[in-house]
Amino acid sequence: MAFRREKDYCPSHRATKIGVTIGIVGVFCIFAFVFPYYGFLSSAPQKQNHTLSQSQANSCRCESSKKTNNVKILKKNAELAKQLKELNAKIQFLEQERDHAPQAGPFGTIKALSTNPTVLPNESVNSRLAKILEEVSINRELIVSLANAKVIPILEIWLSNVERVGIRNYLVVALDDDVQEFCKLNGANVYKRDRDEAIDDIGKTGESSEVSALKFIILREFLELGYNVLLSDIDVICIQNPFDHLYRDADVESMTDGHDNMTAYGYNDLYDEPAMESSRIAFTRRIWVYNSGFFFIRATIPSIELLDRVAYRLTHEEGVWDQAVFNEELFQPSHPGYIGVYASKRTMDFLMFMNSKVLFKSVRYNPELMKLKPVIVHMNYHRFDRLERMKAVVEFNVNGKQNALVPFPLASTLDWE
Ligand SMILES: *[C@@H]1O[C@H](CO)[C@@H](O)[C@H](O)[C@H]1NC(C)=O
Ligand SMILES: *[C@@H]1O[C@H](CO)[C@@H](O)[C@H](O)[C@H]1NC(C)=O
Ligand SMILES: *[C@@H]1O[C@H](CO)[C@@H](O)[C@H](O)[C@H]1NC(C)=O
Repeated sequence: MAFRREKDYCPSHRATKIGVTIGIVGVFCIFAFVFPYYGFLSSAPQKQNHTLSQSQANSCRCESSKKTNNVKILKKNAELAKQLKELNAKIQFLEQERDHAPQAGPFGTIKALSTNPTVLPNESVNSRLAKILEEVSINRELIVSLANAKVIPILEIWLSNVERVGIRNYLVVALDDDVQEFCKLNGANVYKRDRDEAIDDIGKTGESSEVSALKFIILREFLELGYNVLLSDIDVICIQNPFDHLYRDADVESMTDGHDNMTAYGYNDLYDEPAMESSRIAFTRRIWVYNSGFFFIRATIPSIELLDRVAYRLTHEEGVWDQAVFNEELFQPSHPGYIGVYASKRTMDFLMFMNSKVLFKSVRYNPELMKLKPVIVHMNYHRFDRLERMKAVVEFNVNGKQNALVPFPLASTLDWE
């Protein structure tokens, strides 16, 4: 921020000094206008003991010197007027700085801002999308999901649950014509991008890990248009309306891959080095990664910078996983030779925004947790048989069939596509 540039800098003192300077310059100007002939400003001292009567003797010489004097004075006046204008601008700036400078309150009352300002929308980025978003979004927010023809049966479940909980501000980004057709037939909100060879090829033929890389490129436009996006993979089942359960106080608010308080929200992982004897324990801080398949990202500069960095790496590095890159860019602090992303972040409640490990490892065996009504369930840990498991979640969480989750083993085999 601008007012942090100088350490011991007191705008009001500087403002006062400049005020005094302006005062002096101002008075100087006034005198110069009132007594221009008497050399108030003249730099020639010999003129000082000239009087009107004395000067009559050599009036001719005096006339010409008066003229040059006049020109000099006018020049000087113009210069001073310019200085006055500049100093006025400076004082105005300093006053503004002083008015906006934060003041620390008493102990325990200090709270830093966690949200950066929303970007000014740039409609020329994509006017067709801008029009769709204006119609679909609520409070400039919407839930967005990407799909290609391979996953239409899963998309069907995603859509039916989105509609069941009354979410109207959703948009399916169709990566091919089949999905667009499917959505239109079902009266669902859909958007297909204009042709873009590189992106379309991944979209049509890609496996889902490649498709999920696409979203960082596509999301940028939504943010540039000034919309906050709740990005959702299609293997997410909405059980409540997630927009009623967001905090909206961070650039990135994401569900976690963690499965309990420690792994979801962070803990000290102790590293033991016996040779160090009394100082053998080093503390390290760990947190399970954020799930890049369900996160709310606000339209701010740090958010867009994050998307750009992730998109750049995914398109320039071989064999990287988009979720790992997303987390590296979000969490890596600045250090020599590297400047991190200054985006604020919030971890979603791991029981309300539930991953499928939590569901199949803990919840289905715990009568208390079984009573919970999560906001969403994401089938992220069970990709191989996710369609069947998603249907079972609907039976369990929506239709109240208590034993719907029982038949499934903890893990689905051949998990990685
Ligand atoms: C006044 O003018 C005289 C000559 O006319 C000069 O000798 C003298 O130094 C001048 N005095 C001042 C104060 O400039
Ligand atoms: C707005 O978007 C257009 C198209 O992408 C771009 O050329 C322009 O530089 C953008 N304007 C600003 C102020 O970012
Ligand atoms: C997890 O944290 C929540 C609140 O942060 C707390 O209410 C709950 O008891 C914790 N659970 C366990 C098992 O410690």
